[in-house]
Amino acid sequence: MTAKVIDGKAFAANVRAQVAEHVARLKAEHGLTPGLAVVLVGEDPASKVYVKNKHASTIEVGMASFEHRLPAETSEAELLALIDKLNADPSVHGILVQLPLPGHLNSELVINRIDPAKDVDGFHISNVGLLGTGQKSMVPCTPLGCLMMLRDHHGKLAGLNAVVVGRSNIVGKPMAQLLLGDSCTVTIAHSRTKDLAEVCKRADILVAAVGRPEMITGDMVKPGATVIDVGINRIERDGKGKLVGDVHYDSAAAVAGAITPVPGGVGPMTIACLLANTLTACCRANGLAEPEGLTA
Ligand code: GUN
Repeated sequence: MTAKVIDGKAFAANVRAQVAEHVARLKAEHGLTPGLAVVLVGEDPASKVYVKNKHASTIEVGMASFEHRLPAETSEAELLALIDKLNADPSVHGILVQLPLPGHLNSELVINRIDPAKDVDGFHISNVGLLGTGQKSMVPCTPLGCLMMLRDHHGKLAGLNAVVVGRSNIVGKPMAQLLLGDSCTVTIAHSRTKDLAEVCKRADILVAAVGRPEMITGDMVKPGATVIDVGINRIERDGKGKLVGDVHYDSAAAVAGAITPVPGGVGPMTIACLLANTLTACCRANGLAEPEGLTA
């Protein structure tokens, strides 16, 4: 079997188009413009690129983008004061503090200062608890994107065996909660799992989010399974830099029923879902119906 390739780039473009359509309607019918504030502290080169891309995508769907770039030596009190100001600003519906923060800042304290209703990353402890108890919350963007692609491919997910490899707070744990919410039978595996190959081979849905290049190989994949590769790893091959996922693409694609490539799979969905979350936050803040198909 050769797997169907799930085109995340096209899927994300479709999500962004749906968001743009909703934004236009919010403006026309309610005079509302959803606003996203992104806070970057310091000069981390990768973070600067992410923030620039987020700004451009936000503008492109017709939302307001508020960028706050602070020097690396910003104190915790200064950063918390900015978050308080953004929490109180009615034109800001979503707040994202780019991680990682410089070492002298306590990320948990900072994230938990964000109004949970504006926490479009879904990292606030209240949102983590709401998701874990099956209540309405803001959902982390990357797992939300994976869920959208899985629902699109499978229709209903109920009863499927899902194995999530990776237990991070940003991807693995929320991904498992979302799959459980859609009535999958969920296993969380990780780098210390005994006989990982055997565990993975039971999966109808295999989500790889361990951060280890090409760790999941074709012999670990059940024939016909759907493989979602969240990994983005930079490696050297044949003297050149290359991006690979946590899945060994060629061997897995020969066995799987469907697979996301790297790049062009899960990656583009993260920003698309950040925009979807900002739209959702704006609708909720104004007592309006949430956009269908763009939430968990
Ligand atoms: N840094 C890398 N990815 C992310 C993300 O999804 N959210 C935030 N806030 N920071 C990040």
